[in-house]
Amino acid sequence: MNIGATTILDCEHSKICGSCAWIEIPYQTQEQMKIEALSAAWRKSLSTKLPEIEYKDLGLKHFRDRADLTLENGKIGFYQKHDPHVFALKHCPLFTPPLQSWLSQVKALAWPKIKGSLRLRHGPTGKNGIWLDFANQDVKSLLDEKDFLTSLRTFAFVEIGQKRKSLGLKNDLLKLQDPELKPWTQTYVNDQVLPLFSCVGSFTQTGSQANQAIAQIVEAYHQVASVEKIIEFGSGIGTLTFPLAADGRTITACEFDQLACQGLLRTLNDHPLLAKRIKILQGNFQHKCQVDFSQFDSIAVNPPRSGLMDFLQPLQNIEKQKRPKYFFYMSCYLDSFIQDSMRIENLGYQIQNINILDQFAHTPHFEILSFWKLT
Ligand SMILES: C[S@@+](CC[C@H](N)C(=O)[O-])C[C@H]1O[C@@H](n2cnc3c(N)ncnc32)[C@H](O)[C@@H]1O
Repeated sequence: MNIGATTILDCEHSKICGSCAWIEIPYQTQEQMKIEALSAAWRKSLSTKLPEIEYKDLGLKHFRDRADLTLENGKIGFYQKHDPHVFALKHCPLFTPPLQSWLSQVKALAWPKIKGSLRLRHGPTGKNGIWLDFANQDVKSLLDEKDFLTSLRTFAFVEIGQKRKSLGLKNDLLKLQDPELKPWTQTYVNDQVLPLFSCVGSFTQTGSQANQAIAQIVEAYHQVASVEKIIEFGSGIGTLTFPLAADGRTITACEFDQLACQGLLRTLNDHPLLAKRIKILQGNFQHKCQVDFSQFDSIAVNPPRSGLMDFLQPLQNIEKQKRPKYFFYMSCYLDSFIQDSMRIENLGYQIQNINILDQFAHTPHFEILSFWKLT
């Protein structure tokens, strides 16, 4: 996207909102600062030369189709910059227009004076969803009071608590039921849309635009390499799994979160041909990992903030020539990316490509994608 050197995003909350710390910095300067942050962190810890960083933005606005907000004293919004309280969010230019209208509907309700987190989603099928992550006692009071949640249910799909229970109605009584998986986001394979099933509260990237850009980079990296069998760590609901599986590749997807695995399984039900090539392993792969890496010709990882930890342990225990030839690493945590890069380099891999995908415009965060080759 061609963004002018002095372009600053216009936002009515920019003076108080604590979410976009860099909003008053022209976007091109933000881009340079992110490239410099990554280059400087690399130079500090790794002696090899970093290839030129390719940078991709998603535009200045309208790329988020999920919003993580806080409810405090009846107000829904983000935390303020210099104050530990929430301000009432009217409009966020980062939201897609349908997510913005969903926010306006939510704000018009008479919210109880409690504190808690909530997530709004506008899914690719046009449905709205809300996840209320409130204290158990507050959930109980809302269920007893009944009218507020009954009215919320008429607007959207409602999910509640850490167990992602869905809010149902039985014999005129509100009930917390088993989690329901729905296509809240989508990934892409060869630029074709593939709906992904999940809970409203499941981990996803910021939106479909980010997923499309990620899929394009993942596919471009793998096109030049002769890769057939990939072991994937942190597959979640399958955002990367499907683009990785393009061109007939076989994926073993390792994931800790049971509901994310169920989401991926549900998506695979709609794609029987892909299901033959994608195997899911559920477990904790950061500790006591027992993967036989010699069975794979590439590793793909998108770990949580803590990085890979002991996932790489079995790789250290096999001879270099038996190790997978390629390594794809994606992370939005610079520190863990650098820590793990040192280990990946020590295992004999050399970085070939590196991209920044800026799915966190106006903040210091960025997504790093990298591709490595065993040398
Ligand atoms: C940054 S998210 C990436 C998810 C997915 N790749 C995506 O793009 O939607 C990291 C994923 O790692 C998973 N994870 C966290 N700890 C794990 C562990 N110990 N073993 C396996 N997966 C883990 C999380 O549940 C989450 O799905």
